[in-house]
Amino acid sequence: MALLDLIHQNVLRTSNINLTHRARRLRTTPALRALVRETGLNARDFIHPLFVRHGEGRNEIRSMPGIFQLSVEEAVFEARSAAELGIRAVMLFGIPAEKDPIGLENFSHDGIVQQAIRAIKRELPEMVVMTDVCMCEYTDHGHCGLINTGSHPNLPEGYVLNDETLDILARVAVSHAEAGADVVAPSGMIDGMVGAVRSALDISGFEHTPILSYSVKYASAFYGPFRDAAQSPPQFGDRKTHQMDPANVREALREVALDVAEGADMLMVKPALAYLDVLYRVRQAHPEMPLVAYNVSGEYAMVKAAAANGWLDEQKVVLETLTGIKRAGADLIITYHAMDAARWLAAQ
Ligand code: PBG
Repeated sequence: MALLDLIHQNVLRTSNINLTHRARRLRTTPALRALVRETGLNARDFIHPLFVRHGEGRNEIRSMPGIFQLSVEEAVFEARSAAELGIRAVMLFGIPAEKDPIGLENFSHDGIVQQAIRAIKRELPEMVVMTDVCMCEYTDHGHCGLINTGSHPNLPEGYVLNDETLDILARVAVSHAEAGADVVAPSGMIDGMVGAVRSALDISGFEHTPILSYSVKYASAFYGPFRDAAQSPPQFGDRKTHQMDPANVREALREVALDVAEGADMLMVKPALAYLDVLYRVRQAHPEMPLVAYNVSGEYAMVKAAAANGWLDEQKVVLETLTGIKRAGADLIITYHAMDAARWLAAQ
């Protein structure tokens, strides 16, 4: 004890520590900590993803415990539970009855997503219904666009064609808007997708339907569980000719600048956790734009797996993660934790 006293005296006397400033003062009590908290988390920050399929009932996705493929009726039930927790938006993904090279159900009046949009909007008019506009869930090859089978000899076989794909994406977006979607979200990283969707909506009388662009979407290994959920893995090759290289960030700024110029109303960065710097950079470059982060399936699966083993405190880790995503610059977060997090926040 005497030795510690001696050290204490000497440290204070001989060092030039200035204790006028004590950062810990504002951490002393829970009330003070709450008072100076910079980032708040609320159920209205979350967008809840829903997977809809034909048939009855619901089945859990193996690699995403707590997340289900839902019938239309179950999707309405799930959306209502979300609304009761204060969640204001859902993002719909469809699993079609049949797949083909073009993905015909994607823009069919009675497609699964179109049915789900109508049912949710009928029962819950206040819920903001967003739809993913892409081809990979609907095509038999699992790619996000039409495939080069020889019509473009200067491009590789199997290459995801750009301009031809735009026509399909435009049709899908209009068909979602016709069914009553509040926001359409092109997700394929096809050049010109925002402009194509914007002009198709405009000439179809949907000039007031906003576009949330998956502006910065990386070719990420964190989408694995989603591809189980949506049954959409590519049957050959990968998505590297359209999704971005994880090593790049300046290119992300180029992507968002193009989307803003093409008329995007909201921007997205995806995935979230390995890309918080990208989120921050996009936030700095476009302070005027609503910015969404997608906390993707693989990020969800990692937390669920560790929590199931008792290795992490799920609630604390999820709230810390979502806070980090907001702090980095997201206004809204698409997250499979939405319902749990909303429940935990309500109980705090
Ligand atoms: C494409 C799409 C994907 C995801 C959202 N939209 C899959 C992909 O690009 O392969 C992944 C989302 C997630 O992992 O949670 N329709």
